[in-house]
Amino acid sequence: MIYLVTGATSGIGKQIAEDLLKSGYEVILNYGNNDKQAKAVEKEFKSKNYNFSIYKADISDEKQVKDMFALVKSNYGRLNGLVNNAGTNIDEFVETCKLDNYMKVVKTNFIGKMLCSKYAIPLLKNQENACIVNIASSLGVRPDTECSAYCCSASAIITLTKCLAMELSDYSIRVNCVSPAFTPTPLSLSGWTKEEIEAKEKRNPRHRLGKLTDMSNAVLFLLSDKADYINGENLKVNGGGILKK
Ligand SMILES: NC(=O)c1ccc[n+]([C@@H]2O[C@H](COP(=O)([O-])OP(=O)(O)OC[C@H]3O[C@@H](n4cnc5c(N)ncnc54)[C@H](OP(=O)(O)O)[C@@H]3O)[C@@H](O)[C@H]2O)c1
Repeated sequence: MIYLVTGATSGIGKQIAEDLLKSGYEVILNYGNNDKQAKAVEKEFKSKNYNFSIYKADISDEKQVKDMFALVKSNYGRLNGLVNNAGTNIDEFVETCKLDNYMKVVKTNFIGKMLCSKYAIPLLKNQENACIVNIASSLGVRPDTECSAYCCSASAIITLTKCLAMELSDYSIRVNCVSPAFTPTPLSLSGWTKEEIEAKEKRNPRHRLGKLTDMSNAVLFLLSDKADYINGENLKVNGGGILKK
């Protein structure tokens, strides 16, 4: 079984890739920009004797996505699963936002996931347990201020998941979504004070923040045949945090 995880050189994506590798699957790790970080992950995973390769492609650029999946096709011929994880954020209020920043978030977080799905479909068609898992966000269900591009993209991914689940049913490809709550990573930690993060922890009904493994456990479950009758769903992994502000 072979899986492609986008944005797999940091945070949640790296954890998903490593947990798939530990389960004995082959994994293609994608990243977009940070070569130094990718080299460090490559070195770490090689030292653990994992069965993987790393492909660089900016998922918001159609040509790069097309070329990446052409390479997957010529090197592997198929995929059993795609994890659309790569994402970014730029905090801005609508009133003062720069359109370039807004578009960067929408093109990476939403359009990029659509593009990767588009080019992965031919490789997933009728493969064993074929599945796409999209990573959205709690903010796609309950939005917040100063990040509308991120929130709207996350809502769009939840809807894209349902559209794709219907469109791909005749190819036997399931499509689901995971919406993580705040989980410490380089992406989420920027812009929050220590006090604000502690308050998030206290407020959550489980009295803690999300862990990388909370998210990857949910993704690996949805990828597995144990989730064979789950399709078009959005699994909120938030400790119940959506229940109170
Ligand atoms: N952490 C949270 O609290 C949280 C909560 C809800 C949802 N999420 C979602 O979870 C996903 C992962 O977030 P994270 O917190 O783990 O982020 P992270 O630690 O910053 O990792 C982001 C990964 O995405 C890659 N990436 C970014 N832009 C890319 C692009 N255009 N093309 C290809 N790869 C790209 C990065 O590599 P390069 O820098 O090399 O491009 C990196 O590997 C995102 O979709 C995010 O929206 C996170």
